[in-house]
Amino acid sequence: MHIILLGPPGAGKGTQASFLQREYGLAKLSTGDILRAAVASGSALGVQLKSVMDSGALVQDDLIIDIIRERITHDDCAKGFILDGFPRTIAQAEALDVMLHHAGTTLHHVIELAVDDALLIDRISGRFSCASCGEGYHDHFKPTLVDGVCDVCGSHEFSRRADDKAETVARRLEAYHEQTSPLLPYYRALNMLRTVDGMASMDEVTRAIKTLLSA
Ligand code: AP5
Repeated sequence: MHIILLGPPGAGKGTQASFLQREYGLAKLSTGDILRAAVASGSALGVQLKSVMDSGALVQDDLIIDIIRERITHDDCAKGFILDGFPRTIAQAEALDVMLHHAGTTLHHVIELAVDDALLIDRISGRFSCASCGEGYHDHFKPTLVDGVCDVCGSHEFSRRADDKAETVARRLEAYHEQTSPLLPYYRALNMLRTVDGMASMDEVTRAIKTLLSA
């Protein structure tokens, strides 16, 4: 099964992709996580990526397309994958169509998580994650069960993303509306787009996605 989760920054793509990974045994391909790992490596490429990502702009298409083209050949993708953060431009969507066609397969679901901009700011400004295992949390919507201790791995170290500052979030939202939202009519025209109310609770969003996947 090949699934795209579409939606603005903070819509819950990563949260729901983690659920789908656990529930269906699919690989979770988060381009944001892949790029942040490149930044953390301190390579020359990582330094370049950091300045683009910290500005809230999108990284160039050819680089991301090459990353995904290579990544979907890994063994963990054999059962299928969830794309979280890709495609983000029409050029990326067209390249994905070609990749899947060459691999003799296709896309099965494109799910939009629809959330108003005002709520996204609250979502993003409260977000933090475990520095050890990467589990995602939120100050209000998903706090750790025990204050300061990761529910999953017990670590006491947490981090917040450099691009989650208010001014960068505004630029990321702009990039979404200008460059990524044209993917909605693109997939609608292919009769693939299904929309879920991303403003519902996490569990309700999960249930709505499961219903779509089983239809
Ligand atoms: P990326 O990491 O993909 O960031 P994003 O798309 O901006 O999305 P986020 O990770 O911010 O949000 P999310 O939708 O995953 O929400 P989450 O589940 O965390 O990309 C970062 C940068 O990398 C880009 O700006 C760009 O520079 C570059 N990049 C990446 N991919 C690229 C590409 N393809 N092309 C070019 N450049 C690319 O949820 C947010 C918070 O809300 C969490 O705290 C969560 O706990 C909470 N929450 C989630 N769901 C709910 C709910 N239903 N109710 C209440 N709280 C909720």
